[in-house]
Amino acid sequence: MNLNAIYTGDALDVLRTLPDKSASCGVTSPPYYGLRDYGVAGQVGREDTPEAYIERLVAIFHEFKRVLANDGTLWVNIGDSDWGKKGLSGESSHAYQAARYAAGVSYNRPCSSTGVAGVVGPRQGSHPVIKRKDLIGIPWMFAFAMRADGWYLRQEIIWNKPNPMPESVRDRCTKSHESLFLFSKKERYYFDSKAILEPYTQPLNRWSGNDLKANGHSKWAQATGQNAYRNRNMRPNPGGRNKRSVRNVQLRSFRGAHFATYPEALIVDCIKAGCPPGGVVLDPFMGAGTTPVVARKQGRQYVGIELNPDYVKLANERVERAGKLF
Ligand SMILES: C[S@@+](CC[C@H](N)C(=O)[O-])C[C@H]1O[C@@H](n2cnc3c(N)ncnc32)[C@H](O)[C@@H]1O
Repeated sequence: MNLNAIYTGDALDVLRTLPDKSASCGVTSPPYYGLRDYGVAGQVGREDTPEAYIERLVAIFHEFKRVLANDGTLWVNIGDSDWGKKGLSGESSHAYQAARYAAGVSYNRPCSSTGVAGVVGPRQGSHPVIKRKDLIGIPWMFAFAMRADGWYLRQEIIWNKPNPMPESVRDRCTKSHESLFLFSKKERYYFDSKAILEPYTQPLNRWSGNDLKANGHSKWAQATGQNAYRNRNMRPNPGGRNKRSVRNVQLRSFRGAHFATYPEALIVDCIKAGCPPGGVVLDPFMGAGTTPVVARKQGRQYVGIELNPDYVKLANERVERAGKLF
């Protein structure tokens, strides 16, 4: 396996060529179902049914598991889609998207659309269960299918977007979050929780004094009835509190020729907790290279896979700009 390199090709095909247990950790965001056209034949996300999409993703991650170290984790950011929206199981027309982008209300580039004539994608059609306007529930369909395939489904982390995309809906709330799932290959795995401790929101002296003594009775403990924390030796860590499962991360406009990058801030902690320093982070849907950029900045190595050669070029340039660490 070539380290600190990006392979051009289909995720499953390339993963099949990589050696067993050669990656420490995976961090990735597959194409969402029916929302984007990445302009290449064989792309994931254009399957006719959500079931076919999930089946394909699970097959790719099944192969990924072979390449992952036994103590490795996989972090997957995956979004949901509505069924039959605007006549297709995807987004708005190209013209609409372009207008929104020009008006500055969209973070997507104008080319992101399933409505373009001639694009092969999810067809408008009936589904035995899912009705038009239904939320498909892709993230949990995916999570349960991965678990059924043998992954340990460890956690759903919520990516809360303080600046979500505006939506013109009047019969539901504006969507402002996405899922980030943590999977592990085995029951026990590498997870450096100390590397991602976060600051307390209340001053630590709230717990100080007697609370830090195993046998003391503090006013705070008595007042809150939380003696159980002390009894279970769960006194606060002076270095910070354990990372919470909701991440507040701003959407950022990406000016390169890719329209679905995730923010660097979303994945920094995945890499710090999931990959030992110097280890290898593998991203099978690498896009414009956010994972390799963050891996480098955090002193980790990377391997990327991307189907669209234009994005591979873009990612290599971005990684180059991020500086050489190795
Ligand atoms: C959501 S984007 C990833 C963006 C990336 N996280 C970033 O920040 O730049 C998904 C990427 O998967 C790529 N892709 C689609 N089908 C693929 C396949 N079969 N194999 C590998 N990559 C694929 C798309 O071209 C797209 O760049």
